[in-house]
Amino acid sequence: MSAKFVINGQNKLFGEIPVQGAKNSALPILAATVLVDGVCEIHDCPDLTDVQATVNILRHLGCRVKREGHCCTVDGTSAAGSPIPEKLMHEMRSSIIFLGAILGRFGRAEMFAPGGCEIGLRPIDLHLDAMRKFGAEVLEEHGKIVCECPNGLKGTQITLSFPSVGATENILLAACRAEGTTTLFNAAREPEISDLADFLNAAGARIQGAGSGEIIIEGVKRLTGCVHTVIPDRIVAAGYLAAAAMTEGKVRLSHIIPAHIGPVLPILRDSGCEVEVRGHTVTLRAPNRLKAVKSIRTMPYPGFPTDMQAPIMAMMTVAEGTTVIVETIFESRYKHVGELGRMGANIRVEGRTAVVQGVPMLTGARVSAPDLRGGFALVLAGLAAKGTTEISEIRHMERGYEDICKTLSALGADIQRVNDGDRNEKEQ
Ligand code: UD1
Repeated sequence: MSAKFVINGQNKLFGEIPVQGAKNSALPILAATVLVDGVCEIHDCPDLTDVQATVNILRHLGCRVKREGHCCTVDGTSAAGSPIPEKLMHEMRSSIIFLGAILGRFGRAEMFAPGGCEIGLRPIDLHLDAMRKFGAEVLEEHGKIVCECPNGLKGTQITLSFPSVGATENILLAACRAEGTTTLFNAAREPEISDLADFLNAAGARIQGAGSGEIIIEGVKRLTGCVHTVIPDRIVAAGYLAAAAMTEGKVRLSHIIPAHIGPVLPILRDSGCEVEVRGHTVTLRAPNRLKAVKSIRTMPYPGFPTDMQAPIMAMMTVAEGTTVIVETIFESRYKHVGELGRMGANIRVEGRTAVVQGVPMLTGARVSAPDLRGGFALVLAGLAAKGTTEISEIRHMERGYEDICKTLSALGADIQRVNDGDRNEKEQ
């Protein structure tokens, strides 16, 4: 049965919430356990459908996985490099991250190509070119990818033409078990890359420079079990700060690494919010009316994250003045614009540029979540809008945001998750 969120807007959000573990760290770290001959205990794994999809693949590969609350224990001792079927690959696009891990451990990886998704074509050429550099033979036919390297991967030098997050992760995974040293230039610098490297180093890998543009990986013969805690989710954190900002609220986030939301803080401050950073907490107090912030351009980290583009756009729809947003990372990442328009937002898109003319007020409407972050932008709009907003296709949000209703209700929002035909089912 399909479910939707029903939001009665204009409640001011107040209170304190902890931030969940980062989806974009948990997924590659779980995939990395395939490389490990032993038991890994991963803490702060968020409870999300994407995490479950990753666990399904691990189990298919023969790993023993136990989930207890936010702890995921993976024993990869008896893993095998069996082909990953189409159904499992299509549950989640980022399952391509298994490529480097399976190839690194078994010398052969077979899986279906993940294909495009709601936000763009999302090619994997950088991933495959990198595997070729390690000496693998790559075959692409009938939608399948077969990578083979019977004599083992060889350390190499790789320069990425773009600092792709996924390609950097796949390179780290493959390089850990390659013979000799790999040097990666123009690597992605996102905090999730450093988190993956920290996990791998705890398991016995030798990785230096993660978090910078140049990463050096010395291959090792074996990785062994370890304990690791996933970093807090910077995108989710910034999203809840935006929720406070849009509702004239005051919200304190705990369990956060403030430096990771560094690229978003100036925008929140420029829009008139008071933001106080103290240790592992960030407190935001919203003004009566937000101000437009002139221009925002999405960039690889430490630039403004593309994953925050939709939520911050939602914020700017009710700010005083005009904000220009340029999306440089993904080509189709404005699918939320039409839905925001149904709620009264004034946004014009030309190519990769969106011009947001703030309006005094949004009004509730029936809308549909186009993708993960675009869906959360609609939740934000619904919280600020006058009247009732119904958001369908919420499965997109459940890929990345844990317990949205519970979290927002704790802050005073009026939001329920209801199944179609059952308007009274309260979120448990
Ligand atoms: C990761 C994040 C996603 C975030 C994105 C950019 C995960 C699970 N997902 O996605 O939330 O929005 O980083 O910060 O961590 N590209 C190519 N060829 C390739 C690979 C990528 O052309 O082989 C292009 C993509 O189409 C896109 C750009 O590079 O235009 C960025 O993609 P990438 O950094 O790889 O994003 P993901 O790892 O897929």
